[in-house]
Formats: sequence, structure tokens, C-alpha cells
Amino acid sequence: MGTLRMPDDVTIGKLLVAAKEAMKMSYAPYSQFNVGAALLDSDGNIFTGCNVENASYGAAICAERTAITKAISEGAREFEAIAIVGGPHGEVRKNTTPPCGICRQVLSELCPPDMPVILGKEEGFECYSVEELLPVGFIL
Ligand code: THU
Repeated sequence: MGTLRMPDDVTIGKLLVAAKEAMKMSYAPYSQFNVGAALLDSDGNIFTGCNVENASYGAAICAERTAITKAISEGAREFEAIAIVGGPHGEVRKNTTPPCGICRQVLSELCPPDMPVILGKEEGFECYSVEELLPVGFIL
């Protein structure tokens, strides 16, 4: 595990609940795999997101990028934590749903390297830093 700035247990719980709520909004008729994310900013705002698929499969947008795009587009810039849950047919799966490579790249540009990425599972969660998930990201 890398360096982490963990939120308190109550905040972790809130983020996981918000991610599970967002998962219910998931539009995933092709994969039937639902994902929800909840991103906390430094003012205490929580931005949620779900995956949004498309008949042109490559146009699918992941839950993490939905959440961060909503946050950025509403003016948020400083982020403290993100929680992610996922699973088939609307049920949070036994194992974690770690972010895909594109989402890792996006998180690593817009979030602090020591920001916790909280991966919920059926019971409990695992936590990694942004940097741990993408140690050598692309930079311009
Ligand atoms: N998905 C996410 O929302 N986040 C990820 O990081 C991994 C994958 C979505 C995309 C697609 O709608 C479904 O999960 C199956 O790949």
C-alpha cells in the first residue's frame, strides 16, 4: 500500500452508500455489469456517477469518469476520496471492482497521488492510493 490520507469511518461509510445508490442508476443493457462511484471534494460535496453504455460499445463511459466529469464541470477541483462499487445485475459483487486503465489515467491527472480509492465489495472494502493504481501515468 502507498501513502494514504484516509477519511474517517463515517465518511467512508457515506461514500460507499452513495456509490451503491449511484450504481442503481447504471445504464448497462449490454454488459449487465453495474458500477457506481462517489467522489468527495474538499468542501464535503459528494459527486456520484454510474456507467453509461451505448450500442456503439466503445462509447461507454465508466462510473468513475461520470463522477469526476460531473465534479469538474461544476467547478470542484480538490478531491479527497472516491468510493467505487460494481457487480452484475445490480448486486455488489464479492470482490472489488477496480478502476479501468483509462479511469486510472483520468484520476491520476485530477486527484492527489495520495488520495484514497476505496473499493467496496459485498462485505467491507479495500483501499489503494491513486499513485499505487497508476504509478507511471502519461503526462504532457
Ligand atoms: N466499468 C466502469 O464503470 N468502471 C470501470 O472502471 C470498469 C468498467 C463499466 C464499463 C462497462 O459499462 C461495464 O463496466 C463493463 O465493462
